[in-house]
Amino acid sequence: MTETPAMDIDPGLLSAAREKTAARFEGVDPTHPAVAELFELAVSRLAREAAADPGRLTPIPPPRPGAPLAGVSEFGPSRRLVDDIVPPPLPRAFLTLQEVLGNPHSSLRDIAAVVSHDPGLSALLLKLANSAYYGFSGRVDTIDRAVGLLGASEVHTLAAGAAVSTLFRDNPYPELLDIPLFWKHSVACAIVSRFLAKKRHEANPERFFLAGLLHDIGKVLLAVAEPEMAAMALEMARREKLTGTRAEKNVFAFDHAELGGRVIAKWRFPESLALIVAGHHDPAACRDDPDPAVVHVADMVVLALGMGSRPDPMVPALFPEAFAILGVHPQDLCLAADELDERLPPLTMAFLDGGSH
Ligand SMILES: [Fe+2]
Ligand SMILES: [Fe+2]
Repeated sequence: MTETPAMDIDPGLLSAAREKTAARFEGVDPTHPAVAELFELAVSRLAREAAADPGRLTPIPPPRPGAPLAGVSEFGPSRRLVDDIVPPPLPRAFLTLQEVLGNPHSSLRDIAAVVSHDPGLSALLLKLANSAYYGFSGRVDTIDRAVGLLGASEVHTLAAGAAVSTLFRDNPYPELLDIPLFWKHSVACAIVSRFLAKKRHEANPERFFLAGLLHDIGKVLLAVAEPEMAAMALEMARREKLTGTRAEKNVFAFDHAELGGRVIAKWRFPESLALIVAGHHDPAACRDDPDPAVVHVADMVVLALGMGSRPDPMVPALFPEAFAILGVHPQDLCLAADELDERLPPLTMAFLDGGSH
C-alpha cells in the first residue's frame, strides 16, 4: 500500500493525531531525518485510522499516582542473577528438526518427514504456504511440497518461531504482558529486520527475521519467572518515565535484552543470534556491529508505528550510530511500513494460533 498524501486527511484529525503522536515521541531527537520520517508517517497513519475509529485519538493516560514502590529503594536491585532464570526446554520435535537441518546430508524429503511428525508445525507450514504472504500459485496440500517451496532456511525460521511461541502461549500474568500484542510486535520487528537486512544486501536475511522474532523473548521470561519484580519494573517505568530497559536494570540489575541473549544461547541457537538479541538496546554493540543495529532500528520503526507489546507505546531513542552503520535511507523506512501492511496480518495470525485453525 502506498501512503496517500497527508493533504487528503481532515486537518482537524491530522492536528489531533500530531499531538498524540508527539506524546509518544517524547524524548526522541526529532531532528534526526529517520525520526522525522517516522514521525510524519505515524501521524498520517493515526489520522487515517482515526477517520474510521475516533477512539484512536483518545489521549494516553498520565501515570496513576500510587503507593511508593516497595522493595526497590529500600533493598536495592534483586539478587537474582541473569543465569538464575532458566528457560523451559524447546519442544522435542523442534530439537529433532534442528538436528536434521544441521546435517549437511539431509534432503528436503528428510526435513519433510520430521515436520510431518509435528502436527502443529505441519499445520503452520501448510497454512503459511497457502497464504498470500508467500504467493505460491496453486494449492499446497502436502508437507513435501510446502517444505520444497519454502526451503530449509525458511522452514527453520518458522519452526523456531513456532516452537518458542508455543512455549509461552498460556500467559498466567496477562496484566504484565499481553501475549497477542507481544507476538504482533515481535513478528513486525522480524519483518522489518529482514527488510533492512535485504536492503543491506546481507547474505542471509532470514537470520534477521529470526532475530527480530526473538529479540524481546527476555520480557516473557521476566514476566513468567519473576512476575512481582517485573510488575515493579513496569510500574517504575510508567511513574518515573524511564525506558523499560532502564527500569528493568534498576530492579533486576540486568535487562530483557541481556536475559534474552543468554536464553537464546542456552537453547543452543547460533551465537550470532544471541549477540543480536543481547545487543538490541546497547548503543556500544549497535555502533560497532550492524547485526544488532538492524534489530535496534527495526524495533524503533515498529514502535514508532504504534506496534508495541502494549497500546500506544512510547518510542525509544534511536541510536544515530546504529542508523548510520546500516547505510539505509530514511525514506526506506516508509517502504518498510508498506512491507508490514502486506505481510504482518497473515504471519501474525499463523504464529498466534499455531496454524491449528
Ligand atoms: Fe527490547
Ligand atoms: Fe521490541
